[in-house]
Formats: sequence, C-alpha cells, structure tokens
Amino acid sequence: MDKIHAVITGVGGYVPKYILDNDEMSTIVDTSDEWIMERIGVKTRHILKPEEAQGASVSYLMTKAVEELLAKTQVDPDTIEAVICATSTPDYLLPSTASLVIGNLNLKHAFGFDMEAACAGFLYALQMGAGLIESGRYKRIILCGGDMLSAFTNYEDRTTCPIFGDGAGCVLLEGTTEPYGFMDAYLRTDSHPDPLHIAAGGSRKTSSHDSVDAREHFIYQEGRVVFKFAVTNMSDAVEIIAKRNNLTFDDIAWLVPHQANVRIEQAVARRINLPEEKVMINIEHLANTSAGTLPLCLWDYESKLKKGDNLIFTAFGAGFSWGAAYLKWSYDGSKYSK
Ligand code: UT7
Repeated sequence: MDKIHAVITGVGGYVPKYILDNDEMSTIVDTSDEWIMERIGVKTRHILKPEEAQGASVSYLMTKAVEELLAKTQVDPDTIEAVICATSTPDYLLPSTASLVIGNLNLKHAFGFDMEAACAGFLYALQMGAGLIESGRYKRIILCGGDMLSAFTNYEDRTTCPIFGDGAGCVLLEGTTEPYGFMDAYLRTDSHPDPLHIAAGGSRKTSSHDSVDAREHFIYQEGRVVFKFAVTNMSDAVEIIAKRNNLTFDDIAWLVPHQANVRIEQAVARRINLPEEKVMINIEHLANTSAGTLPLCLWDYESKLKKGDNLIFTAFGAGFSWGAAYLKWSYDGSKYSK
C-alpha cells in the first residue's frame, strides 16, 4: 500500500482586536519604541481584553481561528475526527481547551486533547497529528496553536512584557498518497526550568496569597540565557533536518521560525546561510504568541505559498523544548487570498 502523508490543506487564524503599541507600552513600563524595535523587533501586539468577548480566553481565540478555517475550506464539521490544541495558557487546568473548542463548534465526531510544550507546542503537535494521519486511522484533523500570554505577563517587568502578544492559528491536516506534506521532524527536550518558567499555579506550588503577592503566576525569563539556547538549538535542528533529507539551502522555499525576537530569527537565518527573504517574519505586528507563532506565520504568508514549496519549521521554548520539521506544501495558497 502507498504511504499516507499528512498534508496541510488550509490555515486559519485569529488575533484579538485590541492593539497595544510601543507608545502605550512606554506608559506602562520604563521603555521606548526605539529600544523595543531595536532589541526585539516588535511594534505592536494584540491583547485579548475581557471587553472583547464573554469568556475571553485561549479557547475563544482558537474557536475563532477554527471557525475561519472551516468557513474558508468549506469542510463539513462533522468530518473532523480530532482536535489537538497546543497551548501553555489553557482556560482551565481541567478540562482541556480542546474540549471547549470542540463544544463551541459542535464538532460531534471529534476527540481532542491539549499539548503543552511551551513555544514549541505547535511543532510537536504537527508531529503528533501527522502520526495520526499516517496511521491511516484518521483522515481529517485540526491542529491549533495559540496562547493568551497577556494573562501570565507581569506588566511591571519591562524585560518580559514587551515581548508577548495573544493569538491563535490552526491548520487542517488530511491524508494523501501524493508525495506532499509532512516529511520529517527532529524534536528535542531537555531540562532547564530555571531560566524560563511560571513558578506558581501548578502542583509544585499551588496558588496561595503568598504566591500571588510574590507575582509568581507570571512568566519569569532570563532573557540572555534563553536567547543563546534559542539561536544554537534552532539552527542546529534546522541543519540536522535539512541534512538528513538531502535538502540544500537552495531547496528550501521558506523557513518558518518561532517568533521570539527578530534578532533570533535573523541569527538563525545567518547561521544556516538562508537569505532573509526566505524567512517568515511577522513578529513586528503580532509579537511572540508562543504556540501560536508557527500557524500564524502560515496564516500571514499563505497566499505566497506554492504547491511543492519545501518548508522548514523550527521552534524553541521553555523546557527547553525545540526542534525542526520538514513539510512539502501541497496547494497554491493564492486560492484562499483574503
Ligand atoms: O519564546 C520563548 C523564548 N524566549 C525568548 O526566546 C526570548 C529570548 N531573549 C530575548 O529576546 C532578549 O534577551 C530580551 C528581549 C528578553 C532582552 O534583550 P537583551 O538585548 O538580551 O537585553 P538585556 O537583558 O541584555 O538588557 C540590556 C539592557 C539592560 O540595561 P543595563 O543593565 O545594560 O543598563 C536592561 O535593564 O536593557 C535594559 N532593558 C530595557 N531597556 C528598555 C531590558 N528591557 C528593557 C526595555 N526597555 N523593555
């Protein structure tokens, strides 16, 4: 029997309405548009405010993204068999965000679960979802990646708050015997919790007055340490995946990197000798949406993608968790021009 490949057949996305720009950020913490643009490359970020919707949360962002995906691809919601939600900012510790998205959209025949791998969550979900499709047991599933990091960002800490924004993206994954779609992934995880974590709210330190007073429910990050690991590990992962699939850097149409800092994306591109015009970059207007960055890059660049393009995804996040994946794009994105 011919091998079944998992192909992305559509992309959806959603970013909240409120735009927090660097001028407003400069009224919240001691910073400036100049510093943020030069050191991070972010101009604006979208923030989900309670006023936008009742129950404003990551399931709301993902529901909106999937709604768009279903509308534009015109697939019957009853044919969706699974929903995997990559997020570190679920609505609840339980139940899963996936169960809320499935309920909101009445996906009657889908099962779903959440995956937590910080900013690398969508990359891991791609591997997991591809496995379900390649097994032949599932024909049509949805992968979501997104976060509402504004809920966990300390707006008194100028070293973290300019970086993050809210948003979610999603893809439809289906099976084909044609030689397109998910080809390979190199995924890694090690144990470096100290430089990037949220200390409280989990089983190690449950919520208490003391933890709230100490602002331990917010992201803690040692920026310089994380920066170095991110550049080295993403570059190495991209090199490994390219080499073992016999891809020269001329063969790569697009690098789809996690959007943590434009200097990180540029450093990875430089290290692997890829011209910047082949690198998807949307951090300037969306900031770092954590597990949302990869699908939101596809969402922004979909109209430029052509059938047969070789895409290399790479991501890096807390854990540390990182890796790279190789996917051969399967449709002309211009057919869905917005
Ligand atoms: O997605 C998850 C993974 N996360 C990442 O990949 C993030 C990786 N790290 C980074 O992106 C960068 O390290 C940061 C953006 C977090 C920080 O940039 P940096 O160039 O590494 O700055 P720094 O921490 O070395 O700080 C340089 C200076 C310091 O002042 P002094 O000590 O030199 O006087 C900071 O206090 O910049 C100061 N600074 C700021 N100044 C104005 C830090 N944040 C700000 C700010 N505005 N927002």
